[in-house]
Amino acid sequence: MNDDRATVERIRAAASIAEAVSSYTTIRPSGSKHSALCPLPGHKEKTASFTLDDHQGLFYCFGCGRGGDIFKFYMLMENWTFPEALEFLARKHGIPIVRREPRPGELGRGAVEQILDAVLALYRKHLDAPGNPAAAYLQKRALARDLWAPWGLGYAPAGFDTLKRALGAKFSESDLVQAGVMVKGEKGTYDRFRDRLMFAIRDATGRLVGMAGRALGDDHAKYINTAETAAFKKGDLLYGLDRARKPAAETGYLLIVEGYFDCIRLHAAGFETAVATMGTALSPAHGRLIKRSARGAVLCFDGDAAGQNAARSALKHLLPLGLEVGLVFLDPSDDPDSLIAREGAEAFGGLLEGRRDFFDYFYGVEFSTPPSRLSPVEKSRRAHILMEMLSLIPDPVLQATYVARLSEGTGIPEAALCRIMKAPPPPATETAVRAECPDAEKFFLSRYLKDNSVRQAFHGRFHSGLFEAEPLHSLAQDLEKLGVDKACDFSHIIGNSHEIPEHAAELLLLPDEEFDLEPYWRVLQLRFLRKESARIQQQIAQAPPEEVPVLLRRKSELLRAMRDLQRGDKG
Ligand code: CTP
Ligand code: MN
Repeated sequence: MNDDRATVERIRAAASIAEAVSSYTTIRPSGSKHSALCPLPGHKEKTASFTLDDHQGLFYCFGCGRGGDIFKFYMLMENWTFPEALEFLARKHGIPIVRREPRPGELGRGAVEQILDAVLALYRKHLDAPGNPAAAYLQKRALARDLWAPWGLGYAPAGFDTLKRALGAKFSESDLVQAGVMVKGEKGTYDRFRDRLMFAIRDATGRLVGMAGRALGDDHAKYINTAETAAFKKGDLLYGLDRARKPAAETGYLLIVEGYFDCIRLHAAGFETAVATMGTALSPAHGRLIKRSARGAVLCFDGDAAGQNAARSALKHLLPLGLEVGLVFLDPSDDPDSLIAREGAEAFGGLLEGRRDFFDYFYGVEFSTPPSRLSPVEKSRRAHILMEMLSLIPDPVLQATYVARLSEGTGIPEAALCRIMKAPPPPATETAVRAECPDAEKFFLSRYLKDNSVRQAFHGRFHSGLFEAEPLHSLAQDLEKLGVDKACDFSHIIGNSHEIPEHAAELLLLPDEEFDLEPYWRVLQLRFLRKESARIQQQIAQAPPEEVPVLLRRKSELLRAMRDLQRGDKG
């Protein structure tokens, strides 16, 4: 769609990684490259292990093991997805993004955004006008005026044709309907939002995707939203995420609340990692949004049965992603907004400090009666409920730690608990496991990638079997397919993927020491031959008799090659 390969390449050519990094940290020339203190979130260092090569457009931090190209840099730095980084860089360098053409009559995303921007500007103007009821309402709720503009608050006046009169010359009625701000009724088209306090709803990058309007009196619908469109689905959005994601990358967690007022009030009170689900249940899409921004989530719910159930069902979408989950429960008559308005930020801060780990909390719920006083059947039933939650945790070590705690608390042996464990969930897709690469493989492949003369020297002797560590093995397979000449072309190494794998960036940025590669190759080749011959030996044991001679011949070839290599080693 919009992440078209040509655009990616044009951006790569236009952008400078040195310039990008130097807007976050001081970079110093070091040989043909630059080094810096690692600016990536979550890594604080005193000696510079962050390396970048402007010519290759790559960076790698030898301290935290993260690296890649300019897109990856912004994805890590700003917590953006690839399309978000692409959009930012395209805009910055004036490169047009090729988008899917909207169907005839259908408004494209950009057009909807334009309309919403214009409508919001109009509503903002009405909120600033003297004597409007929304401003009075905000003053009554003590929401400071300096929050209005940054949060995109506005006022939709009471009439039915405010938008038509103000924006009719610029946009057609049908466009305004498609953008979700007007409604087509039997008697004509009229404003969706009338006499309401308006909230701008933005996606994770800050793009305006919809609006919500709160009734100022006791209208039967307290909140109404723009109609659901491709860009506006409440279950796919977290209100305030565009502002919370950066603070969340630093503190490690997002604070999940329900309402608009809660979210704004929390930010104003210094809890800048707050986001709101806008009253909907926490969805799998919410889980993924959280995972992209933070290590964990603190859920803030009502302390009643409904809140407890909401927490239980939220766990189903959060634990499998490897997120840490903490819980804060409020008095059912309160929400964060009302609590802070009444008792101040410290009151909420105290609750947040005292948040409970999800397991401790639910252990307390299930075993409010001590296990020793429960019947065997009841004790087992409750242990099953907790084990069902623990089954969702992908990290086996963390899971085992909780199981040990459950065992300790209840006296049920760990082995019995493990037997009722559900099949392990698939590994969290987004936790890339960075395999440790043995040095010989790494050095050899690094030089092979970078140095044309090395490729010539090992022509015919290079093969993917030399590399066992997984990321290196796949990379070597790709190189094998490309042949000697093309391997130097960086775009071929990364193929069609936009993300340069971390290990490739690391290999390309390893220091160019001029060491002799022959011994490295011999070590790797010998290891390969040993493994091969063990494999053939196994096949010989199982093969039908007619295939044995071929296998034996192959084995003696391997043994001869090994002898030759070892002889070369000594000589
Ligand atoms: N909500 C909604 N539509 C409704 C009711 C609620 O979209 N009819 C969403 C809003 O995002 C709202 C959140 O659910 O902020 C929580 O709802 P509620 O607790 O009822 O409202 P508050 O956020 O407390 O709103 P207020 O403080 O303005 O009363
Ligand atoms: Mn409220």
